[in-house]
Parts: sequence; structure tokens; C-alpha cells
Amino acid sequence: MSSHPSFFFLFFFLLLTLPHYSSEYLKLPLLPPTPLPSPSQLLAADLRRLSVKSPLTSGAATGSGQYFADLRLGSPPQRLLLVADTGSDLLWVKCSACRRNCSSSISAFLPRHSTSFSPHHCYDSPCQLVPHPPSHKNRLCHNRTKLHTPCRYQYSYADGSTSTGFFSKETITLNTTSSTLLTTLKKLSFGCGFRTSGPSVTGHSFNGAQGVMGLGRGPISFTSQLSNTNTKHTFSYCLLDYTLSPPPTSYLTIGPTPNDAVSQNSFTYTPLLTNPFSPSFYYISIQSVSVDGVRLPISESVFRIDAHGNGGTVVDSGTTLSFLAEPAYGKILAAFRLRVRLPAVESAATLGFDLCVNVSGVARPRLPRLRFRLAGKAVLSPPAGNYFIEPAEGVKCLAVQPVRPGSGFSVIGNLMQQGYLFEFDLDRSRIGFTRHGCAVR
Ligand SMILES: *[C@@H]1O[C@H](CO)[C@@H](O)[C@H](O)[C@H]1NC(C)=O
Ligand SMILES: *[C@@H]1O[C@H](CO)[C@@H](O)[C@H](O)[C@H]1NC(C)=O
Ligand SMILES: *[C@@H]1O[C@H](CO)[C@@H](O)[C@H](O)[C@H]1NC(C)=O
Ligand SMILES: *[C@@H]1O[C@H](CO)[C@@H](O)[C@H](O)[C@H]1NC(C)=O
Repeated sequence: MSSHPSFFFLFFFLLLTLPHYSSEYLKLPLLPPTPLPSPSQLLAADLRRLSVKSPLTSGAATGSGQYFADLRLGSPPQRLLLVADTGSDLLWVKCSACRRNCSSSISAFLPRHSTSFSPHHCYDSPCQLVPHPPSHKNRLCHNRTKLHTPCRYQYSYADGSTSTGFFSKETITLNTTSSTLLTTLKKLSFGCGFRTSGPSVTGHSFNGAQGVMGLGRGPISFTSQLSNTNTKHTFSYCLLDYTLSPPPTSYLTIGPTPNDAVSQNSFTYTPLLTNPFSPSFYYISIQSVSVDGVRLPISESVFRIDAHGNGGTVVDSGTTLSFLAEPAYGKILAAFRLRVRLPAVESAATLGFDLCVNVSGVARPRLPRLRFRLAGKAVLSPPAGNYFIEPAEGVKCLAVQPVRPGSGFSVIGNLMQQGYLFEFDLDRSRIGFTRHGCAVR
């Protein structure tokens, strides 16, 4: 990636526009959707999000995720709610060309109300980094002939949902946490989406969001744009269970992980893998799975990325449940069925799950322990609440779904990540996680 000339351009460009603090980081609260979706709505949204035959589409992800970032765009700043998504690259917002008498019910960014908005010219280097609408793909763009030909983009998600509009530059205002000061980032590239279509970026499953904050690995993602020699190419988050009362606040930190979290030093790291067919995704390698300490007979190849870019395991903040490739899933399910000591609920299938147990009247139900051994000797041993959800009072269901061979990739979803501080360290190409580090933030 870094040898890509346009990426260098962007990089250099941001170097000039970002404030030059050393080891500065930005901290953004991540908000839950309101109202909270039900487990069956989450499952439906996940299945739509992953409704792709293979990870061959770049940025194959949708905005059905359940953590949102609150962002201020433009001058004066307009407040927008975006889905925080590690499964895609582009930061885009719904735009409206409304100039005057804009009804307050318009839930979109109004570029005409901002003095700092400007579309990229189709000749600008950043324009080469976004996919273009089919009708504009082969159109020539001359620097001199047409002075104001804006850069058109069309970003597609796995389920066919799209955001189409102008790839543009704007000022973003964010809170910095080291002080009460606001940080202003100038000329950040984003998609001004004048047309959005498809279930995952419109209507109910978008949960009132006005766009997506892509946190993927590609050069146009929000985190990649913010990285420069001062701010390391690292971001971290702690996703907390917002169904608790009162709901705790989750944070996304861009830049070096705050020292107070690191000094608790209990990070374990696993290397990031790259899939040339899906460069946006954060792939890790699962080496083995155990249930209640018993290692299951699953070949390592089940989780491998094959020569065509299929398979592999992705860490994704925008998917709620976890998805595991067959035959691994079947073996895990069988091991759970064998070991769970609670009465099975017959209606599991109607709830959309393979295994549900009746925990009503059981004070502290004992559920089997799931453990992943990852590359780099890292072990992810989450609490049962990270892989069991409660779709009905007194009913707990295994929140893992199968992925048929050749039909996709495995996903470590946001529920599985809950309560961990996850650090995405792009400079050292690794992901770190720790159970100690959420509270101190
Ligand atoms: C804007 O609203 C005002 C008063 O509500 C009205 O008089 C005016 O015609 C409107 N202008 C446009 C362009 O719709
Ligand atoms: C495009 O043309 C403008 C004005 O003629 C010039 O300043 C700019 O450097 C050119 N851009 C590129 C990428 O050649
Ligand atoms: C910054 O944080 C303060 C306190 O949490 C909040 O009141 C304010 O709205 C935030 N500003 C922005 C631009 O996010
Ligand atoms: C769970 O068990 C209780 C009795 O212990 C029963 O009343 C209830 O109907 C069961 N729930 C389901 C969903 O099967």
C-alpha cells in the first residue's frame, strides 16, 4: 500500500494539516443504537451484512453495526451520527443539496451550509482511491479541460447496498481528551452521499445513522487518514455491554493507546494477516478452538485464507454475532450440546439459533467455556456473555452462526469483543487485546 503514489500524496497532505502534538490521540465516545435492536433484528442485520459469497468485493460490509460515532463535519460544524465500522474503508455521510428552508427533519449533511466543503477534482490523486460509479468508470478526466469536474464515487456493500456521491474534503471537529480543547482536522476526505440505496444503509437497520465511519485498513479510512509520523497508525476501542443499566460509555481512541491503559500491560498480540482480495479487512488467524479446555479436532486449514481470497477470519466491529466456518462450527456446536447441563429450548430454531438453553430460575447458569488459540500464541478466552445472548427472558442462545465452506469468511463480531480493549496496530501489523484496560479509560 505504502508504495502507492496517491497514498503518499494523501499522507503528506495530512501531515501538513494535522496538529503536531507528539503522542496525541483522539478519543471518541461510541454510542449504542436507540432503541436497542432485539437479538433477532441483530441476527437479521448480520446475515444481510455478510450476505456475500466470498470476500472478493472490497469493503464488503454494511452499516448494520451497533456502535456509533458522533462527529462534527463542516464550518460551522454539523453534528452527524456514523456507524463505526472496521469492515469498510470509506467515511461517508448522507448529503442533501438543500440550500434554504431546509426542514429540520432532513437528517443529512448540508454541504451548502458549510464554508469549508469542497469536492475533490476528478484529477486529484485521492480520487484514484475510491471506486467510481459504472457510468463514470471509463470517462476521461483532464486536469485542464474541465476545471470543476468533481470526483464521483460509488461504494458498495456486501448485500448490494450502495452510497453514491462526490468524494470531497471537509473540516472535522472532534474532542481531544488530553484537554478539553476541540481538535479541528482540515481537508479530510469523505464521501458526500447524495444517493444511498439498499437495506443496510437505509431504513430500520441503519438505526438513524447518517453515514459510516470506515475504520478499515485501506488508505481512505478515517484511521488511515489520521495517521502520520506524529500520530501512530494505531487505534483502539473498548466495546462495553450497553444493555447494562446505566449503560457504560464505550470509546474509540485514534492514535497511540493511552498510557494508563498500556501500563496495565497485559496485552496479548496476534499478527494481522493480509488478503490481497480484501485489503480493507483485519484478518487474524485462528489456530485451534477448545470448549471447556478440550481442544476440538478442527484442521487449521478450515480458518485459512485460500489462494482465491476465500475463508480466513476477520475482526469486525460492525457485525454483532460471530460466524465460524464449517466444519468448525458443527464441532463447536456438538461440543456445547454435549457439555451444557441446562435444559435445551425446543424453539431455538424459531429464534434463529441452533442451541438455546432455559436458564430461568438458575441463579448462575454454568455455560461451557469457549477458547480460541490465535497465531502468535495469543489466547482469546472470552466470558460466556460474549457468545451467549438472551433473545427472551430466561433463554440463552449460542450467539455463533455457521459459514458454509466456500461461502464466506469467519467473523469475530462485536459481542465477542465486549469488555476487551482491542488495539489495532497497523505500524506493527498486529492486533492486541486485554481484559484489563476498559475500566481505566
Ligand atoms: C422559505 O420559507 C418562507 C417562510 O416560511 C417562505 O416565505 C419562502 O417562500 C420559502 N422559500 C423557499 C425558497 O421555499
Ligand atoms: C491541475 O491543474 C492545476 C491548474 O492548472 C495545477 O495547479 C495542478 O497542479 C494540476 N494538477 C495536477 C495533478 O497535475
Ligand atoms: C465534547 O465533549 C463535551 C463533554 O463530553 C461535550 O459536551 C461536547 O458536546 C463535545 N463536543 C464535540 C464537538 O463533540
Ligand atoms: C423454562 O423452564 C421453566 C420451568 O423451569 C418453564 O416454566 C418455562 O416455560 C421454560 N421456558 C422455555 C422457553 O422453555
